[in-house]
Amino acid sequence: MIEKDFLIIGSGIAGLTFALKASQFGSVAIITKDELDESATLYAQGGIASVMTDDDSFELHANDTLEAGRGLCREDVVRIICKEGPSCVRELIELGVQFTRIRGKDYHLSREGGHSKDRILHANDLTGREIERTMIEAINSRENTEIFPHHMLIDFITLSRLDAKVAPGSSQDEALGAYILDVKTNRVKTFVGKTTLLASGGAGKVYLYTSNPDTATGDGIAAAYRAGARISNMEFVQFHPTCLYHPQAKSFLISETVRGEGGILRLKNGSTFMENYHSLGCLAPRDIVARAIDHEMKKSGDDCVYLDTTHIEGYHTRERFPNIYQTCLGFGFDMAREPIPVVPAAHYTCGGVAVDLNGQTNIRRLFASGEVCYSGLHGANRLASNSLLEGLVLSHRAVAKAASLLKSDDFSKHITRDIPEWDSGSAVDSDESVVVSHNWDEIRRLMWNYVGIVRSDKRLYRAERRIQLLLDEIKEYYWNFTITKNTLELRNIALTAQLIIMGALERKESRGLHFTLDHPHTDDQNWKKDTVLQDTTRRLITKTSHGTTLHE
Ligand code: SIN
Repeated sequence: MIEKDFLIIGSGIAGLTFALKASQFGSVAIITKDELDESATLYAQGGIASVMTDDDSFELHANDTLEAGRGLCREDVVRIICKEGPSCVRELIELGVQFTRIRGKDYHLSREGGHSKDRILHANDLTGREIERTMIEAINSRENTEIFPHHMLIDFITLSRLDAKVAPGSSQDEALGAYILDVKTNRVKTFVGKTTLLASGGAGKVYLYTSNPDTATGDGIAAAYRAGARISNMEFVQFHPTCLYHPQAKSFLISETVRGEGGILRLKNGSTFMENYHSLGCLAPRDIVARAIDHEMKKSGDDCVYLDTTHIEGYHTRERFPNIYQTCLGFGFDMAREPIPVVPAAHYTCGGVAVDLNGQTNIRRLFASGEVCYSGLHGANRLASNSLLEGLVLSHRAVAKAASLLKSDDFSKHITRDIPEWDSGSAVDSDESVVVSHNWDEIRRLMWNYVGIVRSDKRLYRAERRIQLLLDEIKEYYWNFTITKNTLELRNIALTAQLIIMGALERKESRGLHFTLDHPHTDDQNWKKDTVLQDTTRRLITKTSHGTTLHE
């Protein structure tokens, strides 16, 4: 049993910000599924939105965020995050993050869709890599921080799972730790923490085509749901309009800042089309651009549209977007000479574990920050480059709250309760791994086809039936065989897919990222509110001769 003051699950900007600050107050464990730097943050190209100049203001940034969120943002959250953003960004700079400057002086600020000002700080097109590099360097010098790479969250240990008198997700419930799979040895470890931050990222891998890294399998959302946490607005999945269309490119992201620097979307015949959809043309909010591309592709039958940067000076493209330029070149496309083929792909999970302004979930001692959470910043559609900002500010606020919990003296009595160590009991190794790969493919394909950019009741009901069958099969498999990273991920993408479908079926309107042919209008009277999903099924952890059981 590993005991710490702070357990942190995930190592992107949200997890590392929390870790750096929490280590001033107590012992820290960072639990992360892959290498320490592997996270969606690592691949962030565009940058971090923050008010940095006198001709910009918090009011303008907040208004752009609210406009993109289509009436569902929490206004207090939006204002606080926009306002506290610059000081948190300055801390990043003090830590050593090198954002791109113009001739070594002022910061170069980019523009992305939906922003009324240039306010995106970036490190060329490798912003996330620069942030991870700097934060990890700082983390490595913290003595009271232990890092557990290749360790994966299975489920939370909560009070309601040990004590039948406490209702899951109720105000008496609290997080006490987590069962964690050591992926390399396939052994399960028991972690106990006085507070836990969930910062495990989103769920793009639920879809067949995604810009997300392989780690984005909704692990945190699924585990939090199973523990009784409230999950909000899962129907809002953001599709990035421009990912490279090439069979080997794995939906490589072409940053929106490429359009911010003048890139133009064209059809195969060279004609432009975004002016027919929005006055901001190619820099319209993302939901509109992605839907326009989807519509044009369906109309023409083409497999992709094109992003044209040939009119921008070649030198500029190569210097400003070295990573994108070189990656495209590797796939045989010279951006400076020819338009590149692009398609939309799942990019960001706007919904997630519901939290307050301090990242606190409805389960005491359990916090969430970054893509895994729903704070109310993004509403029905996230404004570009607001996500790194959210992870940064929310984790900063969450540490203060979590540190105050350390002082309360009521944790020890829970620790002394008998938290059982995990024991696999009679489970055996599977000889049918094909079940995992088959179901994995089926889920991602069905989500792409039935729960994608444009939805309908019929497609959603079809998806609902299929996912239930798959979940039943996966449950049986999960309990009979020794768990592995693959089975855990499959179980999580299946549940996260179900939550997206449930949210989409509940919302009988179209708003922001959720567009359905059967309810094509926005219905403010009935639907200017969040969808909230909560599972309060009692799941007790018990020890039997068959091992440790977390009842389903
Ligand atoms: C991009 O660079 O286009 C992605 C930025 C974001 O998703 O916020």
